[in-house]
Amino acid sequence: MSITILGIESSCDDTSAAIIRDGILLSNVIAGQKVHEEYGGVVPELASRAHQQNIVPVVDTAIKRAGITKHDIDAIAFTRGPGLLGSLLVGTSFAKGLALGLNIPIVDVNHLHGHVLSHFIRREETDVVPEYPFICLLISGGNSQIILVKSYNDMEVLGQTIDDAAGEAFDKCAKVMGLPYPGGPHIDRLASEGDPLRFKFSKPHIPGFDYSFSGLKTSFLYTLRDAKKIDPDFVEHNKADLAASLQRTIIEILLEKLRKAVDLTGVSQIAIGGGVSANSGVRQAIADYCSQRGLQAFIPERLFTTDNAAMVAIAGYYKFLDNQFCDLDATPYARVSI
Ligand code: KG4
Repeated sequence: MSITILGIESSCDDTSAAIIRDGILLSNVIAGQKVHEEYGGVVPELASRAHQQNIVPVVDTAIKRAGITKHDIDAIAFTRGPGLLGSLLVGTSFAKGLALGLNIPIVDVNHLHGHVLSHFIRREETDVVPEYPFICLLISGGNSQIILVKSYNDMEVLGQTIDDAAGEAFDKCAKVMGLPYPGGPHIDRLASEGDPLRFKFSKPHIPGFDYSFSGLKTSFLYTLRDAKKIDPDFVEHNKADLAASLQRTIIEILLEKLRKAVDLTGVSQIAIGGGVSANSGVRQAIADYCSQRGLQAFIPERLFTTDNAAMVAIAGYYKFLDNQFCDLDATPYARVSI
């Protein structure tokens, strides 16, 4: 018997719905929210209102694109947290209402598990997925974690940021360069034209596998402040080199701890996930490192690096197989770790 899961993601500013049947992706619809652009960041109240407007057409489109009807769905998986509470409430309430109407179970998904498990989304039967245990470098606007993934529901955080996340380092440095929010993709684009060795920024000396990006941010800020005293147009004249040097430093920080974790655990497969894993430099550096060390790299399609319901549906699919359903009185949670 085949198993069809509807996934719903609404943790931040993307409303997304996806259909997965027996682990194969049939559809994945994402509605972004332009309303936040003028504020330079996500406004929680506006996000929940936009989710309310988007959720019905997004789910409807996902069902239609998958070529199924709502009566073919066996369970609804939804992001329960972490995220913005108001946004999560929309997805959670919708999932409950539809499940009640269809008389099918609901499955709650930890958004971070979803990012890690996005590597198990297959478009074809023959697509290769990781084997447990593997290491996932989860890098986003809110997280920078090295995770030892032992099974779909057994994940050990070996190290994580003690201050800013990698995405915040990109975004905050981009902001002082006058680039729009979120700055990560702009830095990525500029970096491809710049000299990565032109500027040196400070790197942290933290024991173990934990990360820190706040020192880099401060050193970037001071470099710009001092240089602007001499040349007020310093940033404008050196945009590409600044971006390339910043990106190189972030990648070096990420890779240093990742290498240590690989040496300690002896795993042979490395996956990356989260918004920052869309970065061209990060993707290349991981691919190079893995090929030098004879490791297998899992680099997600860019579509699956940011928030999407396909990852929620696949995480829900594995929980479904394990009969891990949740009660209809389940409430969302703003904060939760892996
Ligand atoms: O996972 P995500 O969509 O959501 C949050 O955790 O918020 O990650 C968003 C982060 C932002 O910091 C954004 O600047 C960063 O991912 N990002 C990138 C790139 N694309 C998105 N950072 C660097 N290079 C990129 N190409």
